[in-house]
Amino acid sequence: MPSRLSVGVNIDELINRVKEGGAYFGVEELGGFPMIFRDREREVKALLRELGGVGIVYGPLGCGKSTFLRNFSAALGGVRDDVIAMYVNLEERTLANSLRTYAIGLGSDVRNAVVKAFNSNIMPIITGTEPGLLVGISRFFYDLINELKVRRELRDKYVVLVFDELDKRYRAMLNVGDDAQVGYGVVEGEVMAYAGAIEEHSSVIYDNVRGLVVIFGFSNRVAVDIARRGGSKGGLNSLLLWYLPKEEFIGIINDVSRRAPPSKPIDVEVLWQLLGGNIRELAMLVLRYGWDVNAWLSSTVIRKVRDVIIHEVRIRSLEVNALLSRAIDPSPRNAYLHLGGDYLMRMNILIDIYGTVLSELPREPWVDSDFAYQLPAYYWALKAMIDKSTVDINPEDVIDEVTGGHR
Ligand SMILES: Nc1ncnc2c1ncn2[C@@H]1O[C@H](COP(=O)(O)OP(=O)(O)OP(=O)(O)O)[C@@H](O)[C@H]1O
Ligand SMILES: [Mg+2]
Repeated sequence: MPSRLSVGVNIDELINRVKEGGAYFGVEELGGFPMIFRDREREVKALLRELGGVGIVYGPLGCGKSTFLRNFSAALGGVRDDVIAMYVNLEERTLANSLRTYAIGLGSDVRNAVVKAFNSNIMPIITGTEPGLLVGISRFFYDLINELKVRRELRDKYVVLVFDELDKRYRAMLNVGDDAQVGYGVVEGEVMAYAGAIEEHSSVIYDNVRGLVVIFGFSNRVAVDIARRGGSKGGLNSLLLWYLPKEEFIGIINDVSRRAPPSKPIDVEVLWQLLGGNIRELAMLVLRYGWDVNAWLSSTVIRKVRDVIIHEVRIRSLEVNALLSRAIDPSPRNAYLHLGGDYLMRMNILIDIYGTVLSELPREPWVDSDFAYQLPAYYWALKAMIDKSTVDINPEDVIDEVTGGHR
């Protein structure tokens, strides 16, 4: 449901502003350093085109959704004087960190109304543990309208609301582990409340603002399920953001290696084949494992893939061999069909490709047209397990798969 929001926007200015937002290379507990925001021109244009109704931005863990959504909100609020963009990160614990409001020349009455609506609806979600509190998401907009002294104050404005990390906050409220299967009905209810109101052309929205756009940022594939079930109600659309492309990622590796020099030469091609552009994992590799690829592979990737295969073997009462031999080539689709697709998705090893793809997907063996590995290292680890007919593999076996044994 494209809105008129993209009309008259100077794309180059918008892109420059997105970049001005910058990025940060780091891992929470280990710190890090600021770095430039790279690439994403294509995604800025695509998201601008898609803006309208309810959008669900999803993508693999750490692909850059939050950074992109925050910078995009800031840029849009900065180039158009008829837009109020609010970016809300539900993983943050304070108003100052969670709520960013981007608008040109916003009156103090409106600012106060935003803060009040935040305090009564979003604050309880970020500090509380009762999933029922999530109704604050859909109430936020209505309360904002109610808080305004003059109800028609936003009559000539587009309101862009971005709710990021709602799925993570919900899981944290439930206090469940990574592999726990939970129902996302409450989350879905909040998404559909906005979709329904927009679909029905609710007077609360259209009598008070020029237009309302709501974007949810999800890491979990719950996003895809909601979009599938919701159809196109209220312009509901799921938007896939992928990692940065190879050249940009290699640029980042080079920048980072100047800031935090590795003790041995690094092979950027191998790093691309293992990380596929995942900057979060690059930060783990550099800051936690001191560029030691083998240590990173054995402590994270191999362990995770091994656990998943063993889980699958157990529930199917098979031998490891028998399961592994079902997928000669662990392409994403083969892995989905033969190695326990649902569990691989729940464990964030695979992700489905659905809806509108904002990014250009890399042409690599770990990406198919309907499924992809979240981290290519999982693909190479599975390949090594299949070739060796065992889950007990070494990091060297994984690297050999990547290089074809030539190094
Ligand atoms: N365009 C970019 N240029 C440079 N670095 C980036 C860019 N986008 C994201 N990053 C960096 O990549 C890392 C992961 O980004 P971010 O936290 O935005 O990902 P995410 O998709 O929101 O993760 P999650 O799935 O956990 O919510 C961060 O360190 C961020 O600063
Ligand atoms: Mg995020």
